[in-house]
Order: sequence, then C-alpha cells, then structure tokens
Amino acid sequence: MRLFVAAAGLLFASFSLFAQPATQERLKAVQGDPAALKAAVEAGRKASFFCANCHGETGVSKAPEVPNLAGQNAAYLLEQIRKFGSGERKDAFMQGLIKVLKDDERVQIALFFASQAATRSRADAGQAARGGELFAKLCTRCHGADAHGNEQYPRLAGQNIVYLQSSITRYRDGTGVRNNQLMSIATATLKNDDIVAVTNYLTQLP
Ligand code: HEC
Ligand code: HEC
Repeated sequence: MRLFVAAAGLLFASFSLFAQPATQERLKAVQGDPAALKAAVEAGRKASFFCANCHGETGVSKAPEVPNLAGQNAAYLLEQIRKFGSGERKDAFMQGLIKVLKDDERVQIALFFASQAATRSRADAGQAARGGELFAKLCTRCHGADAHGNEQYPRLAGQNIVYLQSSITRYRDGTGVRNNQLMSIATATLKNDDIVAVTNYLTQLP
C-alpha cells in the first residue's frame, strides 16, 4: 500500500512537472502579445483588490508572514494558485479564497503582480555574508545567481525573511503543508542557523 502511494505520488509529481495546464498555456500566449498583456495587467490590478488586504496593492506585503508577490515570476504565481486550489499546498485561508477565482482572473492576477517592482529589506550583514556562500553552493543551480528565478523557479531576492524561513523549514521537515521533492533534497542538510543565514542574504538582495 505504502509503495503504491509512493508510486502514485511520483507519477503525479512528474505529471505536474511536464504537463502544461491550460492556464499556463494561456499565460504564455498573453505574455507574447503586448496589447493583450497590457490589458491583462490592468484587469489583474482590479481583480486583485481583495488580495491587497494582505499582499499590498502592488504586491509588497503588509505582514512578515505574508509573501511579497511583486516582481515574482508569473508562471510560478499561477502554479502556486493552482496548488492552493487543488489542496497540494495548504493554507486554510488561501485555499478557500483561490477557489472563487476563474481561470482568466488567475492569469490576470499573476501577470499584474509579476509586473510590479520588487522590494527588499534590511538584514544582518554578518549573517548575509555567510548566507551568500551557502546560497552559491546549494541554491543558484535552480534559483539563479541573482536569486531572480525563472519560469520554473521562484524569485527569492527581497522576499520577507519570516516567510522565507517558514517555507524553507517546511520543505526541510516534510510537514505536508508544502511539499516539493527538489526543495526537500536541496534543504535536507541545512541546520536552523544555516536557514537564518541564507534568508538574511536573500531578503536584502535587489
Ligand atoms: C488574509 C490574508 C491574505 C489574503 C487576503 C490573500 N493572501 Fe495570498 N497568502 C497569504 C499568506 C499568509 C500566504 C503564505 C502561506 C504560506 O505560508 O504558505 C499567501 C501566499 C500566497 C501565494 C504564494 C506566494 C509564494 O511566494 O509562493 C500566492 C500566489 C498568493 N498568496 C496569492 C493571493 C491572491 C491572488 C490573493 C487574492 C485573490 C491572495 N493571495 C489573498 C495571505 C493572504
Ligand atoms: C533542484 C532545484 C532547486 C534547488 C537546488 C533549490 N530550489 Fe528552492 N525551489 C525549487 C522549486 C521547484 C520551488 C517551488 C516548489 C513549490 O512549488 O513549492 C522552490 C521554492 C523555494 C522557496 C519558496 C519560495 C516562495 O516564494 O514561496 C524557497 C524559499 C526556496 N526554494 C529556497 C531555496 C534555497 C534557500 C535553496 C538552497 C538551499 C534552494 N531553494 C534550492 C527548486 C530548487
């Protein structure tokens, strides 16, 4: 039984990696058409009015446990919205809220937040220096040397430190709140003080 569940999980994971959901196709099409992109960003600004309560009007969050969405990669935002909707990623509030968004609104909101200017925060310089070394060794392969990510991997530069710490700890500890095999492997060797160092580095990056 356990083996079956593991095999089914792997199958599912490879599906979500390689299959392009229709909304991701839609996102790409809009990104390739400047007029449609402009219209979608404007529609997304309106459709995200409720999100602004926590994520801020331009995606710069109002509380340390809430992630900044400004400047985040649109495909990543859309994928996380899908994961909340399907229950693969857990957060009682986000899961309920996302269910009411139509596919077009999801695409528009992702494009709107992605188009906004990213932010950054102050950090402890000593921690950040050590964190930079860890990041170069363990993380740049996927998230990029500048931590800006790409279509597949999230931007980490300038993200809120509290949110970064809770996310990394959840991946490492396999709490089930948020699972990703690549991230479980990448964080497996991190000690708590390594997480403090690497997040101090990331939060101050432009
Ligand atoms: C009541 C506050 C609140 C509101 C309103 C809210 N969010 Fe969130 N959102 C959160 C919190 C908290 C998290 C982090 C959950 C976690 O720890 O994984 C989050 C996470 C996210 C993420 C994942 C970001 C990442 O870096 O992985 C996305 C995308 C998102 N929200 C989109 C939205 C959208 C779109 C709306 C509006 C339809 C919205 N949120 C409204 C609190 C909120
Ligand atoms: C093999 C590729 C890979 C490596 C190496 C990797 N990551 Fe990730 N990372 C990912 C993927 C894929 C995701 C999105 C997973 C998901 O959907 O939850 C992610 C997500 C994250 C997130 C959540 C971002 C957000 O907005 O919620 C953080 C934080 C993070 N990674 C930090 C790190 C750190 C720190 C390292 C190095 C110790 C690292 N990653 C190494 C692939 C990688």
